[in-house]
Amino acid sequence: MTHLSLETFVAELNELRVGAERMLAEATDAAALESARVAFLGAKSGRLKTAQRGLGQLAKADKPAGGRHFNAVKQEVDALFAAAHERVSAPIDAHRTTAIDVTLPGDSIRLGRVHPLTQTIRRVAAIMSHLGFEVVEGPEVEDQWHNFEALAIPAEHPARDPLDNFYLSVASHAEPLLLRSQTSTVQIRVMEERDPPLRIVSLGRVYRPDTADATHYPMFHQVEGLLVEPGITMAHLKSVLRSFASSFLGGDVHVRFRPSFFPFTEPSVEVDMEWNGRWIEMGGAGMVDPAVLEAVGYDPETVSGFAFGLGVERIAARRFGVADIRDFYRNDVRFLEQFSDRGQA
Ligand code: PHE
Repeated sequence: MTHLSLETFVAELNELRVGAERMLAEATDAAALESARVAFLGAKSGRLKTAQRGLGQLAKADKPAGGRHFNAVKQEVDALFAAAHERVSAPIDAHRTTAIDVTLPGDSIRLGRVHPLTQTIRRVAAIMSHLGFEVVEGPEVEDQWHNFEALAIPAEHPARDPLDNFYLSVASHAEPLLLRSQTSTVQIRVMEERDPPLRIVSLGRVYRPDTADATHYPMFHQVEGLLVEPGITMAHLKSVLRSFASSFLGGDVHVRFRPSFFPFTEPSVEVDMEWNGRWIEMGGAGMVDPAVLEAVGYDPETVSGFAFGLGVERIAARRFGVADIRDFYRNDVRFLEQFSDRGQA
């Protein structure tokens, strides 16, 4: 059997390395790099693999030197590929010679800010937390039990009229679901889950098919508060609302109750707050109706509670001096950037 001479083997390897160098120098993109990789490093018929087979044809005495040379060339070729890979995948301006002067001032950045309604929601939540109320959330798609029935709003009640609600027919549900029309749904959800004592507040979106005008929008936000424990009265309700209003508006804010009606509170009131010498209607409130306590399995003989629901847009409009709540939803940056959120939670 004739042996391959060591010189030929070494010469072929050197030629292979030069070839790899040349091909890689010309490879300017990932595709060219890949075809070079297949040609030289391909596992089956790449040139290195072929050269390695030559190793077996060397005379026994030449094998150690041949092996060493093979390994050296293989390492060089591997390094050439690694360098080429880095060059090809580097960003386009990697070859730029002009240095960046990091001491130059940067472009001015326009910082965004928190939406005024979100600012209001966060502030209300923070104040209510300080008053001992836990912030909880409820779903925006509700069933009729939580939006109406458990709140003592029976089937024939006008509040359930399809013209006043966004009903959703869902194939898997026997009766239509709806976009919740009030956050009072969360009162029921929490009372069903937990036992008294309870102090919760829930802030979120509600939906009613109203025509949009300066004070109405088909989607708006409410703050719902609920406190249930033994011995709770309207006096507690008024104290909490007054503490809240004083913290929110600053100073000692007066709160006024006017008789009203809600199916799920008895007695029920409209809540007004005095603002710069004017009385502003903020929402509804009352003592949780015993029928509601019973519907969630509480004993009205041992616990009582109050609930209130305030309009977030109304509070925000007053606080920021906004005359038309539609401005909150237009997403006009010239409007939104007027509400600094510095110092906001
Ligand atoms: N859910 C009532 C509404 O949307 C407000 C309310 C909440 C009234 C809690 C009483 C108690 O108008």
